[in-house]
Amino acid sequence: MDIKRRQLLTGISVAGAGVLLNACRNTQTRSGGATNNESKEPAPGEVEPIEVTAAEDLMREHGILRRVLLVYQETATRLRQDASSVPSDALEKAAKLFQVFGEDYHEKKLEEVFIFPAVKKAPGAATRYVDVLLAQHARGREITDYLLSVSQADRIASNSVEPLAKALESFVRMYEHHAAIEDTVLFPAWKAAVGGNELDAMGEKFEEIEHEQFGEDGFEAALRRMDEIEQSLGLSNLDMFTAPPPPK
Ligand SMILES: [Fe+2]
Ligand SMILES: [Fe+2]
Repeated sequence: MDIKRRQLLTGISVAGAGVLLNACRNTQTRSGGATNNESKEPAPGEVEPIEVTAAEDLMREHGILRRVLLVYQETATRLRQDASSVPSDALEKAAKLFQVFGEDYHEKKLEEVFIFPAVKKAPGAATRYVDVLLAQHARGREITDYLLSVSQADRIASNSVEPLAKALESFVRMYEHHAAIEDTVLFPAWKAAVGGNELDAMGEKFEEIEHEQFGEDGFEAALRRMDEIEQSLGLSNLDMFTAPPPPK
């Protein structure tokens, strides 16, 4: 593992966790999970534990990745308007989050090990998507490597502006469709193929893998990192994305 990726992992599992993670710690469990704190009453100010099934877990991970896609889309727009206004370190942080949380964990440790093989074995319409989804994972990693290489400099080089904007937009287009097909076709097919009892065991397994990969609270740490990136780019106010009224 290279130093930068190690640093980001550290950031996600420890430094990036911070107060929010401590506040969130031990408040979430997956369906069927026998977590250590399951029988404990929530402390004052804590929320009741909520169940997160394996499929829901995958989908909320998509939520983090979609927020990176929003950063990419906004970055592409700003690059074309005024490339000097684009902070390359924010793009680098977003691409690293996508790499560590999306590619190295969500794709490589969960989808490619558990979801895709089970769907491929089960007869059904979802099977035909698996090879394309795998190819898109591979293409995504190529693009992420490119984004990381271009964003290492303090400023985006002028001859990289248009190629970078195009790479960002094509990545967004691909991954929005990719995640939508997984949410609506692949994950339901996987749930049907695996069945009830094993789904509970899968929830536990996914939790173990998340802890191995990130320590406690990988999702919450990734969420906090995403918040920081959005704030640094002035993208944290949801209302700024409310569409204008249609023409009358
Ligand atoms: Fe995927
Ligand atoms: Fe996915």
